[in-house]
Amino acid sequence: MFNPSPHRAGRPRIAVAGATGRVGSALISKLIAEPVELVALTRTPDAQRLPAGISLATVDFDARSTLDDALHGADRLFLAHGTSPRQVANEIALIDAAVAAGVSHIVKLSALGPPSRLHPFDWHMRIEAHLATCDVGFTVLRPSGFVEILARAGDPVANDTWGGAAGDGLVNLIDTRDVADSAFAVLLDDAHVTSQRAYHLTGPAALSMARIADALSSLLGRAVTYQHRSPAEQREKLLASGLSEFGADLLLGLDRIFHESVLAETTSTVRELTGHAPRPVADWLSDNISLFRSQR
Ligand SMILES: NC(=O)c1ccc[n+]([C@@H]2O[C@H](COP(=O)([O-])OP(=O)(O)OC[C@H]3O[C@@H](n4cnc5c(N)ncnc54)[C@H](OP(=O)(O)O)[C@@H]3O)[C@@H](O)[C@H]2O)c1
Repeated sequence: MFNPSPHRAGRPRIAVAGATGRVGSALISKLIAEPVELVALTRTPDAQRLPAGISLATVDFDARSTLDDALHGADRLFLAHGTSPRQVANEIALIDAAVAAGVSHIVKLSALGPPSRLHPFDWHMRIEAHLATCDVGFTVLRPSGFVEILARAGDPVANDTWGGAAGDGLVNLIDTRDVADSAFAVLLDDAHVTSQRAYHLTGPAALSMARIADALSSLLGRAVTYQHRSPAEQREKLLASGLSEFGADLLLGLDRIFHESVLAETTSTVRELTGHAPRPVADWLSDNISLFRSQR
């Protein structure tokens, strides 16, 4: 059971940054059933995107007072931020505002990966280093690649043009619902409010793109293949598909990480934190198989 900071009475207040995002929205849908007060931080309030009954706080990362107002009275903060060159400055601004507001515990969504010049790994390193200088309890969650990355393969699979530069590398993709379940557990954990800790979150097993193609073949009832490309070829394809240089380089960086099996580790952390096994990639593929079918 969650106990609020001793100086505050009543229902504990949890601020959720990134509440309209993948992990944040799954987290909110669980927290809403708990005896807590929720405030969702967003740049563009749109009631349609969040369940009814949640307070919204509109934030402008360039206006510190909006962050202070949003975090006023908050006991805990979940911090997720969409991938953006603004990420480091924005997350650090929110962390500083949270510490100033007296938040006792921050759960920061980071990323599993090596110290690297690749985005977003370098950004998370910088944010984590800043967090380490703060006098606040925190939990850093470092998930492996999200299984939702595969949504990008929808049309290419349908058109038989799926491929990339990941080669035969292995990656242990995680379902964002398992990331949200883990965040839920650590946000409501009263035993480690002042602790500073970090967890590596993964799915149940590492797979190559060829094995993912096999799973898609079974579900679609036809042969699906992953075409191996050089990074230069893949970059050209990504740019031709309309992606910006920034977006293409981000995806190429991920392919490189996958190719080198850098995210192939398997941890038991999701099970330990949530009490359930992480969801397999095959479940996500099955739930989202319509993405991979031809719309013609
Ligand atoms: N994708 C992966 O495979 C993967 C793997 C491991 C870790 N991660 C990490 O997970 C985090 C993303 O989590 P997510 O997928 O749940 O987030 P998301 O859905 O991409 O975005 C979360 C929210 O961030 C808010 N945001 C605030 N400033 C933003 C900006 N300048 N640009 C974009 N969004 C902004 C947006 O909310 P409003 O519009 O309401 O303000 C958005 O809904 C990143 O830090 C990423 O590095 C991702």
